[in-house]
Amino acid sequence: MTAMRSYEFRLANSKEEVAAALTLRRQVFVEEQRMFALSDADEYDPESIYINAWKNDSLLMGTVRCYPDQQDRSVWWGGRLAVHENYRLRGIGVYLIEAAVSEMQRRSVRRFLAQVQQQNVKLFEKLGWSKVGEQFISYGQPHQLMEANLHVFDASNRKQRQFIGR
Ligand SMILES: CC(C)(COP(=O)(O)OP(=O)(O)OC[C@H]1O[C@@H](n2cnc3c(N)ncnc32)[C@H](O)[C@@H]1OP(=O)(O)O)[C@@H](O)C(=O)NCCC(=O)NCCS
Repeated sequence: MTAMRSYEFRLANSKEEVAAALTLRRQVFVEEQRMFALSDADEYDPESIYINAWKNDSLLMGTVRCYPDQQDRSVWWGGRLAVHENYRLRGIGVYLIEAAVSEMQRRSVRRFLAQVQQQNVKLFEKLGWSKVGEQFISYGQPHQLMEANLHVFDASNRKQRQFIGR
């Protein structure tokens, strides 16, 4: 009998699922990229929502967080997009970005912004995001402020994209 693999992308809905997201993020941004010396946790974590990509309901392959702007609650920020090293280049990153955009559309957010690492700008552009302003340095790395196009697709009419695990 062959075991069925199942993949699920969903909002973290327990302390344990949020903790799993924070652990994976730390692995990528602190241990792998060394963008932060000790911790990538920040003041936005407590009010963030986390979208997680699970394999077989137990293995966390990727995660992304979104949180509302402090000044303008109709603006949301996406960030800390991280896919586990062993699961890259299978479309999980793209799927997480699209899942975050869909969630923002569902919440009728006015603007959805992200500080994107320079090497990922093309990827976001392919997904309909646009550059806002010039490149800048954040945590020692070139970044670009980018904005999602929330209005091209009507979320309710949008065909759900199928994730095919490879
Ligand atoms: C960036 C990241 C989230 C991408 O996740 P992923 O699941 O590997 O991405 P996908 O498989 O969805 O690939 C998306 C596209 O980007 C391309 N891509 C992704 N990583 C790439 C790399 N390192 N070099 C070249 N191309 C890359 C893929 O080829 C793919 O292009 P395609 O649509 O033309 O095939 C992942 O590499 C990661 O966690 N990196 C470390 C943390 C980071 O940089 N986070 C983002 C901060 S803005």
